Amino acid sequence: MNIRLDGKRAVVTGGNSGIGEAIAVCLAEAGARVAINYVAQPEAAHSLVQRIQEQRGIAMAVKADVSDPDAIAKMFESIEAAWGGIDILVNNAGIDGDRAFGWETDIAAWRKVIEVNLLGAFYCAREALQRLVPQKSGVILNISSVHEEIAWSGYSAYTASKAAVAMLTKTLAQEAAPHGVRVLSVAPGAIKTPINRSVWGDPGNLQDLLEKIPLKRIGDPEEVARLVVVLASDLASYVTGRTIFVDGGMTDYPDFAHGG
Ligand code: BGC
Repeated sequence: MNIRLDGKRAVVTGGNSGIGEAIAVCLAEAGARVAINYVAQPEAAHSLVQRIQEQRGIAMAVKADVSDPDAIAKMFESIEAAWGGIDILVNNAGIDGDRAFGWETDIAAWRKVIEVNLLGAFYCAREALQRLVPQKSGVILNISSVHEEIAWSGYSAYTASKAAVAMLTKTLAQEAAPHGVRVLSVAPGAIKTPINRSVWGDPGNLQDLLEKIPLKRIGDPEEVARLVVVLASDLASYVTGRTIFVDGGMTDYPDFAHGG
C-alpha cells in the first residue's frame, strides 16, 4: 500500500524540532506541502525547509506563537495566500513546564502550559475548521500524550492540558464530521526528543523509564510521524474522534506483568 498525500497542504505547529520535525519530514515525503510553524530557533525551521526542498519536497517556515490568537489568524492567512488553503493541521507545539507540585507551582508558569498546549491547539483548530468545514474535507491531528490518561506528579498543568485536548478532539470531531472533516489525537509515550533529554540522557533515569515501557525502549520521532501520515491519509477515512496511542505499551500498565 502506498500512502500518498500529493496536493495536500499541511501545517505543523512546533514543526522545527522533535516530533514536529519528524512529522514535517514524513508528510513532505508522502507528497504534502508543509508549512513549518515555529516560535524559536528560526535557523532550525529554515534548515528543515531546505532539507525538504533538497528532497524535492515543498515547504515553508512560518513564525507564530500558538498562544497568540492574532498571530495564528495571520499565519493561516499567509498559508492561504501562498497555497490557496489548507487540508491538514497537526497541532504539535507543546511544552511540559518546570516540575513542581501543584501547591508550589508558579501560577504564570502553570497558565503558560495551558495557553500553549490547550488554547494554542484550539486557536489553530478554529482557524483550520473555518476553512476545512466549507471545503468539506480535511484532517486535524492533535499531538497529545500518554499523560492525557496517566497522572504525572509535578506536571499538573501538562496532564490537565493533554486530558483537555482529548475532549477537545472528541467534541470538534463530532461537530466537524457531518462536513467531511476528521479530528483525531495521537498520544506519544516516551519519544527521544529534546523535551525529555534529561531523562534519556541519564542512565538512572533511563532505567526507571524503561521499566514503564513494555517494549523496553524509547520511541523514535519517526514512529509517531508514520502514524500521523497514515491518519492524515484516506487510509484512515473512517477514523475520527479518538486518541490513538503510540507508546510502546506504556498505557498497558506494565506493573501488572506480575502480581496483582
Ligand atoms: C513527555 C515526555 C515523557 C513522556 C512519557 C511525554 O508526554 O513530554 O517528557 O517522557 O510523556 O512520560
